[in-house]
Amino acid sequence: MLNKRVEEAINAQINAEMWSAYLYLSMSAWCHANGQPGFAKWYEVQFKEEQDHAMILFKYVTSRGGVVKLRAIDAVPTEWESTLNVVEETLKHEQKVTSLINGLYKVAFEENDFATQSMLKWFIDEQVEEEENAQTIIDNLKMIKDNGYGLYMLDKELGARTYKQASPLTTAED
Ligand code: FEO
Repeated sequence: MLNKRVEEAINAQINAEMWSAYLYLSMSAWCHANGQPGFAKWYEVQFKEEQDHAMILFKYVTSRGGVVKLRAIDAVPTEWESTLNVVEETLKHEQKVTSLINGLYKVAFEENDFATQSMLKWFIDEQVEEEENAQTIIDNLKMIKDNGYGLYMLDKELGARTYKQASPLTTAED
């Protein structure tokens, strides 16, 4: 049986992951509208990954006999100053998500919920990757500056990203 405080904290995180998905879909729309189809594709993959994160938590709550309660997803920004600004906001957002995951882990720790701590290890590792990915794109954009060919090549590279279902979902039974 899932501890009520842990259940509430995971439900809040499900909402945060869905908000992240919505944010990245909005960023994808902005990139499409601003001539960066590769970045748009990259953010579309990011959108799907965030939905996976919500689903991992959803399945976990139900598997522990808890109840998922979906809430309203707040509106997301729709305008950014530049492509660099989009990715800088992505990094900031992922840093915020990292602190949310850490907070969730702390709740599970305080409640002696070892199973939830174990489940959250995947998210802790994932956040390292999420922050690194955004930082790498920021570094690339800063190196390229206004070089059109460089931007074209980076857009092409990011457009090659493909979606792969998150491993906890591929190994979990439906
Ligand atoms: Fe669900 Fe981008 O972390």
